[in-house]
Amino acid sequence: MHGNAPKSDRPLRSRAWFDNPDNIDMTALYLERYLNFGLSQEELQSGRPIIGIAQTGSDLSPCNRHHLELAKRTREGIREAGGIAIEFPVHPIQETGKRPTAGLDRNLAYLGLVEVLYGYPLDGVVLTIGCDKTTPALLMAAATVNIPAIALSVGPMLNGWYKGARTGSGTIVWKARELLAAGEIDHAGFVKLVASSAPSTGYCNTMGTATTMNSLAEALGMQLPGSAAIPAPYRDRQEIAYRTGLRIVEMVREDLKPSDILTRDAFLNAIRVNSAIGGSTNAPIHLNALARHVGVELSIDDWQTYGEHVPLLVNLQPAGEYLGEDYYHAGGVPAVVNQLMGQGLIAEDALTANGRTLGANCAGASIQDEAVIRPYDQPLKENAGFRVLRGNLFSSAIMKMSVISPEFRVRYLSNPDDPEAFEGRAIVFDGPEDYHARIDDPALAIDDMCVLFMRGAGPVGYPGAAEVVNMRAPDYLIKAGVHALPCIGDGRQSGTSGSPSILNASPEAAVGGGLALLRTGDRIRIDLRRNSANMLVAEEELARRRAELEAAGGYAYPASQTPWQEIQRGLVGQLESGAVLEGAVRYQ
Ligand code: FES
Ligand code: MG
Repeated sequence: MHGNAPKSDRPLRSRAWFDNPDNIDMTALYLERYLNFGLSQEELQSGRPIIGIAQTGSDLSPCNRHHLELAKRTREGIREAGGIAIEFPVHPIQETGKRPTAGLDRNLAYLGLVEVLYGYPLDGVVLTIGCDKTTPALLMAAATVNIPAIALSVGPMLNGWYKGARTGSGTIVWKARELLAAGEIDHAGFVKLVASSAPSTGYCNTMGTATTMNSLAEALGMQLPGSAAIPAPYRDRQEIAYRTGLRIVEMVREDLKPSDILTRDAFLNAIRVNSAIGGSTNAPIHLNALARHVGVELSIDDWQTYGEHVPLLVNLQPAGEYLGEDYYHAGGVPAVVNQLMGQGLIAEDALTANGRTLGANCAGASIQDEAVIRPYDQPLKENAGFRVLRGNLFSSAIMKMSVISPEFRVRYLSNPDDPEAFEGRAIVFDGPEDYHARIDDPALAIDDMCVLFMRGAGPVGYPGAAEVVNMRAPDYLIKAGVHALPCIGDGRQSGTSGSPSILNASPEAAVGGGLALLRTGDRIRIDLRRNSANMLVAEEELARRRAELEAAGGYAYPASQTPWQEIQRGLVGQLESGAVLEGAVRYQ
């Protein structure tokens, strides 16, 4: 379909600005200002593709900051292939730095980038991705405007080390808290241990949302094969930045657009890869959002149908032992895809950014270190994908089945008459502040058969949706040896948790979902054979509570603190359908 021959008959989009004989006034005006930093009229009117570099790196976004360096190599590639590079900033999104949550900024960066790509003389764009939400924000914008686009990961940080052991970004914080509590380190030692996990430029070296989304951008076909896993400081990273620059110019000549690459097959491939890498529970939110913007049917149920039974192959923290450098040396995404191809789990003819199919790119990509990427028949865990639960608590929520520990099974699922169901007593918190204030309150009398609920943490209730669903047990239970209680909520979750969490519940309490009717003390029943989660409360009682809630003006949540919080609250959809700005999906 897309040969390598340039389609020279197709006028470049940028000509409407720089070389429009029908509107010489405007052409002169456009030219005049883009000449003012040294580009020449000959260059701008030469018919060379103008390639944007959507720059997400800045001092405010340390995870992506290395893109400021990489862009120099990307420019060289663009120029060598006959294009002209124009670099511009994207609204920064730093996962660890943005209050109250970077979740609020994905849709804002998306909107901003759509306006830039649509409104300026760009024929194609390099999307500089990395930190969690930067990847979906940029892909979503490219999907909406649908001009040729290729993603370039900034790459993970080098492995962190402390006293001879790998320390992974994010996950080390949990360990450090334990050591601090046990008196083995002091506050200075705490910071030193945590900082050891971030030894270089790049994004989180663990299998968090960043490594997940960068891997999926490659699995979707939106970046060059092998690109996702290269650590940020490696020379290979500079080289792939250059190759990405070369390639985007060809893509413009071939008119290879996001809609050619982001097909339903591409998304189903990504869902399977997500299970095999042990990807983040944020992935369904972001991929469903991307599918909405490119106009591909993708439902939350597709994650269970296509992903649940795929085993975990990648042994990265927090689920496993290793980190980003190891993932790269073991073969990265192509090696994972190759293992899935061997099982017929990949639509191999899905087209990718290099103009070849995913199958062609990953044929022969063997595993280089089987400790880090396991062969398909020797997985770390079976059924590494997500299960979708439903009931009177929510119309959908997801659960990672692989986190159900043997200890949990004994405690909750040991009823011989009903081995896959458990009942417990609900303890309900309204937002993270409420949880922190009350979790250790003896008046709640939390025991080992309770289920912790976090509501008011969805896209509307806590604008952007907070990563707060996995909650710790009260201190007195931890001392008694109960480390994790099941958690359910309408927010998101960071990383993976040892406790079985049911999260991304939609619709959230703030828009009147069933969670809003729940009260502390209600009986909860989770049935894993029926994929159901219900509060065992009579219909009449639920109707009475609903009437009471409506009389009170609905579920109360804190006031917005910024204009964007207020605007997003009015426009955003629910997590199951990507938490997109609903009005935006009409524009494709
Ligand atoms: Fe940016 Fe993890 S905080 S990638
Ligand atoms: Mg995160």
